[in-house]
Amino acid sequence: MPTQLISPTTSAGPMSAGDFLCAKAQGRRLSMITCYDYTFARVLSQSAVDALLVGDSAVMVMYGYSNTLSANVELMRVHTDAVARGIGAASSGKFLVTDMPFLSYRKGVPAALDAAQVLMSAGAGAVKLEGVDGHEDVIERLVDSGIPVMGHLGLQPQSVRAYGGFRVQGRSSAGAAEIARQARTLEELGAFAVVLECIPAELAREITQDLRIPTIGIGAGAGCDGQILVLQDLLGMNLDFHPKFARPFLDGAHSILEALADYDRAVKSGTFPRAEESY
Ligand code: KIV
Repeated sequence: MPTQLISPTTSAGPMSAGDFLCAKAQGRRLSMITCYDYTFARVLSQSAVDALLVGDSAVMVMYGYSNTLSANVELMRVHTDAVARGIGAASSGKFLVTDMPFLSYRKGVPAALDAAQVLMSAGAGAVKLEGVDGHEDVIERLVDSGIPVMGHLGLQPQSVRAYGGFRVQGRSSAGAAEIARQARTLEELGAFAVVLECIPAELAREITQDLRIPTIGIGAGAGCDGQILVLQDLLGMNLDFHPKFARPFLDGAHSILEALADYDRAVKSGTFPRAEESY
């Protein structure tokens, strides 16, 4: 069992991993959102959202891949660096978590520590990794080294090839028991929070009640301690992919198309730029 380095805190300054535990203890829900770039990070730093995730979904959202397997440490470093500069790390108070990409924590402890060092040096406040079985030693060593670790259970997108597609997990009683066991193991290893992705709401509620660390749900119902969404899903930027759990809080794609149509009309009618917009 590693030393439990993270304890509940109520810091007045920037949010920390300890604040996640504190929020759960106080029954305060946590909101998280993905972010991959500087411009959005600037906007999000003005929001009430508690924490940002530089997810490995960056390769899907920003680069058009169909899964997260193409993400690597260098790409995650570049996006972490941009987001960290956008939130101005210390001043905005936003907590920044970065995904450890595919296989970067499965090649032994030294390789995982090297990967985590790159991401933390780029401005991450914590790393997130999927699953637990087979890399308990990595989680333990990261935690022992003062690196806050967020877990990710249920649908683990980096295992998409093993699943044969993005599928809801934990529907059978054996599958559900397995996810609940993994969640307990993560807590014992010192993780400060765990993302639960695409599992039945009842299972997520039971796991949430069972754990001291907060659960952050995505497609896991309302019984979690917090929620996370992909920013572009929340903003309604996806023209062709609408997972049931990803409520668009804005019709972003159509709003942008309207703005572009206005711009196009203004250019073609000669009303843009005006005299006051010219030198
Ligand atoms: O990479 C990602 O966007 C994630 C969220 C879905 C939790 O891991």
